[in-house]
Amino acid sequence: KKLIDGMTVEEKIGQLAQFNANVFSGSDADITGPLVKNGLTGDDLYRIGSLLNFKDSKEMNELQKRHLEGDRNKIPMVFMMDVIHGYRTIFPIPLALGGSFDTELVEECTRMSAVEASSAGVQVTFTPMVDYVRDARWGRVMETCGEEPILNGIMGAAQIKAFHGEDMSKAGCLATCVKHFAAYGGAEAGRDYNQVELSEHILREFYLPAYKACIDAGVDMLMPSFNVLNGVPAVANSWLMKKVLREEWGFEGVVISDYDAVGELITHGIAADKKEAAKYAFKNGCDIEMCSNGYIKHLKEMIEEGIFTEEQLDAVVLKILELKKRLGLFEDPYKGASPETEEKTCLTAENRALVRKAASECAVLLKNDGVLPFSKEHKKIALIGPFADNHNIIGFWSCCGKNEESVTVKQGIQSKLPDVEIKVVKGCSDKWNEIDKSEFDEAVKAAREADIVILCLGEPQNYSGEGNCRTDLDLPGVQNELAEKVIGANSNTAVLLFTGRPLAISKLDSIAPAILNMWFPGTEGGNAAADLLFGDANPSGKITMTFPKSVGQCPIYYNHTNTGRPISKQRDEMHNPYASNYIDCGNLPLYSFGHGLSYSNFVYKGLELSSDKITKDAPVTAKITVKNDSNIAGKETVMLYMRDVYASNSRPVQQMIAFEKVEIAAGETKVVEFEIDESMLRFWNNEHKFVSEPGLFKISTGYADHLIYTTDLILE
Ligand code: GLC
Repeated sequence: KKLIDGMTVEEKIGQLAQFNANVFSGSDADITGPLVKNGLTGDDLYRIGSLLNFKDSKEMNELQKRHLEGDRNKIPMVFMMDVIHGYRTIFPIPLALGGSFDTELVEECTRMSAVEASSAGVQVTFTPMVDYVRDARWGRVMETCGEEPILNGIMGAAQIKAFHGEDMSKAGCLATCVKHFAAYGGAEAGRDYNQVELSEHILREFYLPAYKACIDAGVDMLMPSFNVLNGVPAVANSWLMKKVLREEWGFEGVVISDYDAVGELITHGIAADKKEAAKYAFKNGCDIEMCSNGYIKHLKEMIEEGIFTEEQLDAVVLKILELKKRLGLFEDPYKGASPETEEKTCLTAENRALVRKAASECAVLLKNDGVLPFSKEHKKIALIGPFADNHNIIGFWSCCGKNEESVTVKQGIQSKLPDVEIKVVKGCSDKWNEIDKSEFDEAVKAAREADIVILCLGEPQNYSGEGNCRTDLDLPGVQNELAEKVIGANSNTAVLLFTGRPLAISKLDSIAPAILNMWFPGTEGGNAAADLLFGDANPSGKITMTFPKSVGQCPIYYNHTNTGRPISKQRDEMHNPYASNYIDCGNLPLYSFGHGLSYSNFVYKGLELSSDKITKDAPVTAKITVKNDSNIAGKETVMLYMRDVYASNSRPVQQMIAFEKVEIAAGETKVVEFEIDESMLRFWNNEHKFVSEPGLFKISTGYADHLIYTTDLILE
C-alpha cells in the first residue's frame, strides 16, 4: 500500500498492462516495431507490469534486470507463459492426460513441468484450461479433458496443486490461471472464436463447474474467453464476470484478458473504439489487459473524466502486487532462473522416463481383435504411414518442447528390438489435400514381406489447437485407402493413431484388426508406442470425449437427454420413422466416453448398494466387484454412473459421478467402493438453484453406452 501511495497514475496503470516479450526486445533507444504498433513510448517500457512468451531464462534475466534499473518503483515484472502439457519435456496432450483417470500421474507430470518452466523464468502459467467440449470439430478439444465436467474439474485442480507446489514464493513453484471463462468450447459449429449460445442450466451443469472447481482449488488468476456468450463477449459480460464470478463465486483473484480480447470488443461490435473497449473491460473486472493498449492509453483520462476512480485503480494494482508478493518476486525477481539451471533441469533422463510412462498410461486401445501385443520374436517389421518415422508427435501448445527432441515410432521400436529389420514406407501424406498414391505399391510390398505391420496414421498436430478446426473428422488425405491396401496385404497389422481430437474413423475401424490411439503422446511417444505394442506396457487409457461415426453427428456426447422419441441400440443402424435418428447414420457413436481396452480381461462381477434409499443426511455406499480374468496384470478405471429418471428437467440418460483407477493382478478380484451422497444427484432447476429432487435414480457401472449393472436408488 505504501508502494502504491508513491506511484503515479501512469505507473499504476502500467501494472495492468501485459505485452509480448518482443515489445521489449529492442532497446528503449530504438522505439520501433511492436512498441510503436502498440502506441507505447520509451517511458511506458519501464511501467509495464508483466509479459508473456519470452524465449528463455537468458532473455528473462536481461529483461527483468533492465526493467528494474529503469523502473523508479523497482517493481519486478512477472513472466507468464502457456505451460499446458510440459515446458521442454512434453507429456501427452490434456485430452489424453484426462483419459489416464490418474490424478497422481497428472500431478507428477505437471510438477515436473513446473520445475522445468521455473528454471527458465516462467513465474505464472496460463493453465489449467478446463473448457467443457462436445464438438470435436473445434481444434482446442486437445487442450481440455473432455465432455465430463467432474473430470475436467478434478484434473484442473490437480494441475493447480502441482504448479503451486509447497510454497509459491519458491523456485519451481508457479502461479496458475484457469481459462477460458466461459464456455469457449461451446463455439457454434466447432469453429474457433465463434459465438456461444447456451441456456443457463446447460452452462451451470456442464460448462461452468470445472472453472468453479479450479477457483475452489485456489487458482490465482482467471482468463475470460474470446467468445460472445449469449450476446456479450466474455471480457465485457457482466452476468459472467460480475454476477457469477465475483458476487456468487467470490473470486478475488486477478483476471487477465486473453490476447487482445479487449481490443477485439471493437471487432465484435461492442465498443466503438479502444477507449470504450477499455471501459467495458475495466468495468467488468478485467484487471490485466493482455496485448492491447486500451488501459495504457485511456485509463488515465477515464479517471480524470470521473468514469473510474483512482481507488478502483489502486484496488486492482494491489491485487497484482500481492500476486507478485506471493510469488516472492520482491525478494527474488529471478527465482533462480538461469541458463545453467535450465540446462541441468530440462529434458533430463528422469523427465523423459516420466513422460514415457505417462504416454503409455494415456494411450487408448480402441480395438484389438487379438493381434496385440506383438511378440518380440518377429524378424521383419513393416512400419508404414505418415507417422512411421515422424517427430511431429508432441502436439499443439507444447511450449518450449522441440519436435526434433521427440522419439519417433521407428526409433522407439528399433531401440527396443535392435536386431529386428524395420522397413519404413511413408506411403502417403497426412494432409487433407495431398492425395499422391505413388508410394502405395512400395507400402503393399513391404507389408507382404513383413512378419507384422505397424500402420501409423492420423492428423497432423497442427490440425488441432488454437484456430485449427476441421469440417471432416476422418483420416485426412488418402490414408484410408493406404490402410485398405496394406491390411489387405497382411492382416497381422496394428494401427497406431496420432490425433488431437476424436476422429470419425468408421472406415478404418471396419478393416483394422487393432487400433491403438496414442493421441499426441509427447517427447517419448515412440518409446511409449513400442512399450505398448510389444507388451512391456498394458494399455489403460480411456477416451473422455466421444468418437463419432460421422462428423454429421457432431455435437455428440454421452450425457445426452433421452428425447421423447429415442431409438433402441438394436435399431440403431436402421432408419426409424418419426424417431430421433438419421436416415443415413445411426445415433450411437463409434466409441463412447469411457471406452478403452486392455490386454487384461476385466470382468465386472457385480454392483451393490448399502441401501436402496438415500437421504440428504444418509449417504449410500456402492461396491463394484471386478475380476481380472487373464494372466496379465493391468489397470482398470472403474466408474459409477447415475440417472435421475424423473425430474422437473429432462435429465441426461447417465452421468458419471465417480471413478477410481485400480491395479488388478492376473486372476485377482477387487472390490471398489464409492460413497454416493445427495449432492451428486443435484441439477440446476428452473428456479435457478442446484437441487436434488426426491424420486427414483438408477445407479450403474461400466461406461457410457456399455452400462453393465444397474440398480435402483430412491432419494427420499
Ligand atoms: C492465446 C490463447 C490463450 C493463451 C494466450 C496467451 O490466444 O487463447 O489460451 O493463454 O493467448 O498465449
